[in-house]
Amino acid sequence: MSVAKKDYKRITTKSLIEMKENGEKISMLTAYDFTMAHIVDVAGVDVILVGDSASNVMAGHETTLPITLDQMIYHASSVIRGVNRALVVVDLPFGSYQSDSKEALRSAIRIMKESGAHAVKMEGGAEIKDSIKKILNAGIPVMGHLGLTPQSIYKFGTYTVRAKEEAEAEQLVEDAKLLESLGCFAIVLEKIPAHLAEKVAKSISIPVIGIGAGGGVDGQVLVIHDMLGMNNEFSPRFLRRYLNLYEAMTGAIGQYVTDVKSKDFPNEKEQY
Ligand code: KIV
Repeated sequence: MSVAKKDYKRITTKSLIEMKENGEKISMLTAYDFTMAHIVDVAGVDVILVGDSASNVMAGHETTLPITLDQMIYHASSVIRGVNRALVVVDLPFGSYQSDSKEALRSAIRIMKESGAHAVKMEGGAEIKDSIKKILNAGIPVMGHLGLTPQSIYKFGTYTVRAKEEAEAEQLVEDAKLLESLGCFAIVLEKIPAHLAEKVAKSISIPVIGIGAGGGVDGQVLVIHDMLGMNNEFSPRFLRRYLNLYEAMTGAIGQYVTDVKSKDFPNEKEQY
C-alpha cells in the first residue's frame, strides 16, 4: 500500500503522531556531528537521534556507558547547527537520570538549554517512571526506549534478542502502555521479536520506532555508521547496509597516499 507523504516543513512530536495516524512510516537515523546531521536532514530523515551509541562509534568504547552528559551536549549542539527540518532527539546518557528524578530533570534541562535539541530519550519503563514524569512536567518531550537497553548491558550480559520469554514480553507491553499514559511522544523498541513489536505498535496510539524489531512498527531507526557500512565487523541480522563506505574510504585514502608518495598530487592546476 502506498501512502501519500505529507510535506512537513519542520518535524514536531505532533507530526510523528500524525504520521502514525496516517499510516506513514517514520524514518530515523543517528548523527553525532554537524556535517553528517546536515546530510541526513537534507536527505529527508524525519528524526535525528543523537544516540549514546556515540560512545561506540565516535569514541571507540565497547559500551554506551562511558559517554558523559557534557559529551552528549557537545554532539547534540553540533547536530542542531546542521538541521533545518528533522526533529532532534538526544539520549540521556547512563548515570544522568537513574539516581533520582531531580537529577534526571537537571540533566534533561541541560541538554535542552545548552544544545537546543527538541526532545530527550531515556531507556527503561516503570523503574524510571518518576523521572519521566518530572521531565515531561517541565515541558520536555520524552521518547521511551524498551527491549534491548544497552545502558543495562552488564545486567543482561549479552546483546541478544530480548523479551522472547512470556513474562518479559508481558512486562514490555505493560511498560509501553505506561510510557504512553505518562505522556511520552514515541517509543524505540530494540531487538525484540517482530510479532511482539507489532502487538505493541497496535496497542498504543504513540509511534513505535523499531531497530531489529521487524516491519510491523511505525518507523525504523539505524545507527548511521552501520547503515553506511563504515564498520565491517558489526553485522547483526537486522542491519541493511546501503553503502560500503569502509571500502570506499580506505580505497580513496589509499589512492591519496599513493598520489602524494608518487608526487602526482598536487599537479600544476592544484597549486598557486
Ligand atoms: O544510541 C543509539 O544509537 C540508540 C539507537 C540504537 C536506537 O539508542
